[in-house]
Amino acid sequence: TAKYCTTNDGKEKNISNVTVIGGGLMGAGIVQVAAQNDFDVVIVDKEDEYLQKCMVMVRKSIDRITKKKFPDEPKLASKFVNDTLNRIKTEKEPSVGVANADLVIEAITENLDAKWKLFEVIDKAAPKHCIFTSNTSSLPIFEISKVTSRPDKFGGLHFFNPVPLMKLVEVVKAENTSQETFDTLFQFSKDLGKIPVACKDTPGFIVNRLLVPYMMEAIRFVERGHANARDIDTAMKLGAGYPMGPFELADYVGLDTIKFIVDGWHKNNPDNPLFNPSEMLNRCVEMGKFGKKNGEGFYKYT
Ligand code: CAA
Ligand code: NAD
Repeated sequence: TAKYCTTNDGKEKNISNVTVIGGGLMGAGIVQVAAQNDFDVVIVDKEDEYLQKCMVMVRKSIDRITKKKFPDEPKLASKFVNDTLNRIKTEKEPSVGVANADLVIEAITENLDAKWKLFEVIDKAAPKHCIFTSNTSSLPIFEISKVTSRPDKFGGLHFFNPVPLMKLVEVVKAENTSQETFDTLFQFSKDLGKIPVACKDTPGFIVNRLLVPYMMEAIRFVERGHANARDIDTAMKLGAGYPMGPFELADYVGLDTIKFIVDGWHKNNPDNPLFNPSEMLNRCVEMGKFGKKNGEGFYKYT
């Protein structure tokens, strides 16, 4: 029942056109997975340079997937790559990018004002039936939806990095999200080959509420001088079975994104020590060390 959204004239329609806004780490992965699963996708970002960078990420990742999927079938492999890439269009103007969208997935920088500005613009340009979602890591979905005329058609769709590999999607039902919208998003996540879980609109949903304080605690560990980052990473991989240690993971997620998350939570909950800011993290971000995505964070990447 849930695979449909209702159009202006009351007819039910499959979600087929997906617009992803923000072609960074997450947006690139979401675009790829949607295109691989037969959705027509428009990717919107601010500059040609970012759009090109996004398409490079998509191509590299598809190549890795394709090598695994079709190891001895070069014809099928190149058809898969071409079909996927042919389903993707790029666009700089958000209002143009959403004009035919059935579903919008916002994956821009983790900043409420920026998200509000964007949603105000696209609310006027997108079809009435179009469902809006945010991939926010930490902001309340209801708060983001307030600037639109469609909070009932607004939900959270939270993917995990790297999107092509991570199976989970947290589907967030906020105060005003209708059951129909929630069901559609749940089914859409399955159509992408993911495993959805239902989440309430609480800070960090499930995963980040546990993972972000854990990464911050690891940073504070080093600040106290009780161990170094490399040893903590080794310890958590070999002693707790995590695929990455907390510093590798922080670099992978993006130190700027983690700082946005923690600062926001600290502002709203100043008495919760789990959300205290960290000098070391602030310094890294001040120096432009955002992690793996720009070459240096706690570690250096070539
Ligand atoms: N696209 C396509 N394929 C990829 C890929 C990508 N982006 N990244 C890795 N792969 C493929 C590789 O090609 C490789 O394939 P082969 O096995 O055929 O060689 C395979 O995946 C394994 O890759 P690696 O050997 O490089 O690395 P790995 O075995 O260590 O696995 C990992 C990589 C899946 C990222 C693993 O380290 C992991 O699970 N790390 C933890 C990630 C995590 O916790 N993510 C959540 C972050 S929190 C978040 O996202 C929420 C938020 O709001 C902040
Ligand atoms: P990123 O910095 O890699 O990418 C953000 C992209 O958005 C950039 O390409 C930027 O040019 C673009 N952008 C910014 N403002 C824009 C606007 N107004 N219009 C169009 N494009 C705009 O960030 P990211 O890591 O991909 O994170 C994106 C969102 O996903 C954030 O809300 C973040 O919290 C969330 N998220 C991140 C992770 C992670 O591990 N990094 C995981 C899950 C969710």
